[in-house]
Amino acid sequence: RKNFIIAIDGFSSCGKSTVAKALAKHLNFVFIDSGAMYRAVTLYFIRNQVDCENAEAVSKALENIHIDFVPNAEKTQILLNDEDVSEEIRMMHVSDLVSEVSAIKAVRHAMVTQQQKLGQRRNIVMDGRDIGTTVFPDADLKIFMTANPSVRAERRFAELTAKGEQVSMEDVVENLSHRDHIDSTREESPLRQAKDAFVLDNSDLDQHEQLRIVLEQYADKK
Ligand code: C5P
Repeated sequence: RKNFIIAIDGFSSCGKSTVAKALAKHLNFVFIDSGAMYRAVTLYFIRNQVDCENAEAVSKALENIHIDFVPNAEKTQILLNDEDVSEEIRMMHVSDLVSEVSAIKAVRHAMVTQQQKLGQRRNIVMDGRDIGTTVFPDADLKIFMTANPSVRAERRFAELTAKGEQVSMEDVVENLSHRDHIDSTREESPLRQAKDAFVLDNSDLDQHEQLRIVLEQYADKK
């Protein structure tokens, strides 16, 4: 493999995608938000009332789901069967169910296969939960991000309310701990820190400092 792969994993709302985007921009790599793919699948399941317990229904749904990323000047759009769902997948009704849907083996297999294809030839930064452990165990650089829970909840709350969503701090805290619990205890590719990952706790770091630290790690591995 000639391309360079950077894997960024960690708990919900640790600021993974902010760092990943900044890094991709700086290095001119392609940024891929693997969580957005699980969110798009979840949105499809909600709209089509797919029963997560029904293996046949799940596999039929997966056959009918087509996800694309379309890079634009400012941000990358995510398309679910040609519809731009970039905004809707961030809403609470999707966040509330995404970890249940992401724990389904068939869903993970389908997404991991697609993610591996996306990283076949290009230099990429991919963020998620299992990128350095399952999707690209041989990634050239692995970052595991953490931040203390109250910092994470405040960040997510600010993000959602800025978009006009009516949520309480309590709902946000509950959603984050619910997802972290399911994500780290599921059977299939649970959220784990890869042994060879660099740990970045960004509770007290601004975006500039985080980028600097990650770029240092990149320079070491390059
Ligand atoms: O990254 P984000 O918070 O948008 O991810 C939403 C959810 O998607 C996570 O809580 C997790 O359940 C699931 N996910 C996953 N594996 C990934 C990325 C996300 O299971 N690689």
